[in-house]
Amino acid sequence: MKILVIGAGNMGLTYASAIAKSGQRNKEELMMFDKSDELRETLRKGDHNFEVYDTLEESMPLADIVFIAVKPYHIEELMGCMKPLMNDQQLVISIMAGVTIETLQQGLGIKKIVRAMPNLPAQVGKGMTSYLAAPEISRIELWMVEELLNCTGKSVRVDSQMFIDASTGISGSGPAYVFYFMESMMQAAKSMGFSDNDGKVLVSATFEGAIELFKKNKLTPDGWMKRVASKGGTTQAALDSLQDNNVKQLIHDAAYAAFNRAIELGKYEEKEEKIETVHEIKKV
Ligand SMILES: NC(=O)c1ccc[n+]([C@@H]2O[C@H](COP(=O)([O-])OP(=O)(O)OC[C@H]3O[C@@H](n4cnc5c(N)ncnc54)[C@H](OP(=O)(O)O)[C@@H]3O)[C@@H](O)[C@H]2O)c1
Repeated sequence: MKILVIGAGNMGLTYASAIAKSGQRNKEELMMFDKSDELRETLRKGDHNFEVYDTLEESMPLADIVFIAVKPYHIEELMGCMKPLMNDQQLVISIMAGVTIETLQQGLGIKKIVRAMPNLPAQVGKGMTSYLAAPEISRIELWMVEELLNCTGKSVRVDSQMFIDASTGISGSGPAYVFYFMESMMQAAKSMGFSDNDGKVLVSATFEGAIELFKKNKLTPDGWMKRVASKGGTTQAALDSLQDNNVKQLIHDAAYAAFNRAIELGKYEEKEEKIETVHEIKKV
């Protein structure tokens, strides 16, 4: 089973490298195409375990599974080039934000589409991907898709577009919430007199330690908070301050803001407004 990855940017390269590293495909079974001549030349000079192809005409007919990893505003043009080369046995996995299964089915003239929503830690093999599969995809194909997506971390299958949008609010945008919290703690460390470097070490080691504890035990986050805090102690003072400032509600609202934004972007697409418009809105 051959795989073609279209778009050798951050995510395309992440997937191609992760699939190659997993040993699921050998070099001849993993193909890469990017429209940039310069990038293809650079990739050929690098030490990659995939074949670089110069055209879709050469690579598409050989592929059983096609990964689309271009920006959403390039999809119209790309679908126009792909459609005449596709056959209905091919399966497409798209990781493009805001581009629905229906749009891809119409634009490519095939039914077997998977829409996946990864997040940035996929780049270090710790990604969280939610995915939605068209009903035409068989069980065995689903299993294969999951194996591929899991090369970059973990995945969860959802059964509606709404859950793709919801997972955007939790895991898709989530790494930024964690960085926000880290930055706030680093700023507090600085104002207490720590150097930038010491602040970074204090905060990153604290996050790593807390995550390890959480993973190794069945305690809930609330259970862990109770373990760290003692009545009248320092941690309780901090937790009381968070509670008084309604921080839990604010984080809840932030996740919903991302969720609602994902819904809005999807609606623009339904209205068949230009995909460039979606991109511009996303960048704000
Ligand atoms: N980055 C994330 O954390 C993340 C998370 C979830 C989903 N995604 C999705 O992942 C997708 C890719 O994002 P990215 O950050 O990897 O983008 P990127 O770095 O811009 O990579 C896309 C690559 O595809 C190339 N390309 C554009 N049109 C093409 C075509 N018709 N044929 C072949 N190659 C083409 C681009 O070339 P040019 O640069 O010359 O245009 C570029 O090299 C996006 O749709 C995004 O929504 C990203």
